[in-house]
Amino acid sequence: MKSDYLVISCSLNPESNSRKMAKAAFDLLQQRGSAEWLDLRDYELPICDGGPAYGHGNVEILAQKIRDAKCVLMGVPIYNFDVNAAAKNLIELTGRAWTEKVVGFLCAAGGKSSYMSVMGVANSLMLDFRSLIIPRFVYADGSSFDATSVSDALVKTRIDELVETAITLAGPVAEQAKKANPA
Ligand SMILES: Cc1cc2nc3c(=O)[nH]c(=O)nc-3n(C[C@H](O)[C@H](O)[C@H](O)COP(=O)(O)O)c2cc1C
Repeated sequence: MKSDYLVISCSLNPESNSRKMAKAAFDLLQQRGSAEWLDLRDYELPICDGGPAYGHGNVEILAQKIRDAKCVLMGVPIYNFDVNAAAKNLIELTGRAWTEKVVGFLCAAGGKSSYMSVMGVANSLMLDFRSLIIPRFVYADGSSFDATSVSDALVKTRIDELVETAITLAGPVAEQAKKANPA
């Protein structure tokens, strides 16, 4: 089923904290209408090689889900002061599918100092594909979670704010994109 909102959990770790935040955002979007959930653990993907990898069947499946959405929220682990390789690989593989999407990030990190790590990928989405990046990143270290969910009240508030902003922006940005690029 197509939905305006796609929430992608990019961690491959079974005990992922970014997945807990992505799930919280997904639940809020579901309460407000509908959203689609995508867990990268469920899709085997090749490493992007700029060539034959684009022909892998799962690449087109995921690209279409991104194309169908007006807004994509990404739950991402911070690895080596960047998003993890699985998230970046997804973006490399699906490139233009991100054109003029509203994009938000929920970042899980090990420490408090890597909060700008998502900027490289955010800049790339913005400059390469005119994605509109929601300037409300959610960023949390391990102290904000219990075994199954987000426990920190401030992080929960920030997830609420991210979702509200996503809902506010998704429709108008998609309308504007349609006007700018009539079929
Ligand atoms: C390979 C690797 C690199 C990491 N690099 C960073 C980093 O640069 N900054 C940081 O704050 N945490 C770093 N961490 C810690 C992770 O961000 C942390 O474990 C986070 O919970 C991962 O997200 P996840 O739980 O959703 O998988 C790293 C972890 C791994 C495994």
